[in-house]
Amino acid sequence: MKKLIIAIVAFTLPSLAIAAGGNVHLDKADIDLTNKASLQNGAKMYVNYCLGCHSMKFMSYARMAKDLQLPEELVMENLMFTGNKIGDYMTVAMPSVDSAEWFGTTPPDLTVVARSRGTDWLYTYLRNFYIDESRPFGMNNLLFPSVSMPHVLWQLEGLKKPVYKTEKGEDGKDHQIFKGYEYISEGSMTPAKYDKAVRDLVNFLEYAGEPAKLIRYDLGIKVILFLVIFLVVAYRLKKEYWKDIH
Ligand code: HEC
Repeated sequence: MKKLIIAIVAFTLPSLAIAAGGNVHLDKADIDLTNKASLQNGAKMYVNYCLGCHSMKFMSYARMAKDLQLPEELVMENLMFTGNKIGDYMTVAMPSVDSAEWFGTTPPDLTVVARSRGTDWLYTYLRNFYIDESRPFGMNNLLFPSVSMPHVLWQLEGLKKPVYKTEKGEDGKDHQIFKGYEYISEGSMTPAKYDKAVRDLVNFLEYAGEPAKLIRYDLGIKVILFLVIFLVVAYRLKKEYWKDIH
């Protein structure tokens, strides 16, 4: 039985691996892929605040409309740039040569960013832009130091400054420890509302990274359940076969 337990643990452990992001604590995104209203709001946020720079070139407007149960007319009227067709992929109008010149780097396509970075990383990233006069856009990011992306949601969140405290480390030297933020100006949203808006946006990014996830999850659980039951049966059978031989 011990071997069986070890086999099950070894089998499931890799899926628990967590993508670390430096030494900054990652906040839990707590997204819910079954929440359609959240996904719809996330899509709206993405189109309004992100698509100007970041393409989502493996996602088409039509697929998004269907999966998120948004009427196609609504998507065409509110969520698409003029000139685009409903079957088009979500590309950006800005040539990458220009953006490389403006930002020093081309904003990456975000179709699968939730898979490469993880949802907690994204949720933390979008909530940790702070004022830093030394940067070209006057902003920096706690999770992504010297980031070349401006804080595009600042009107919603407001602007904040980090507060540091000096503490003696184990090496006897003074260290600057990040303690939190102090708001310099208020945004149009309260901090709780902003967190929710970012959660919706991250929820949408998670969906975009793998639209078939819901179905896959459902199937995956059934497959693992089957394997576990089968393992028990196989183990019992093996014991039965070998019991007179030892
Ligand atoms: C004005 C252009 C612009 C807009 C608008 C913009 N970004 Fe960015 N973004 C960038 C640039 C440039 C980078 C590359 C940063 C770097 O490498 O330093 C970036 C990087 C990122 C990254 C990190 C990607 C990675 O894995 O390295 C994420 C995530 C991201 N943006 C999300 C968003 C989201 C979500 C929005 C909408 C709320 C958004 N961005 C709006 C320009 C933009």
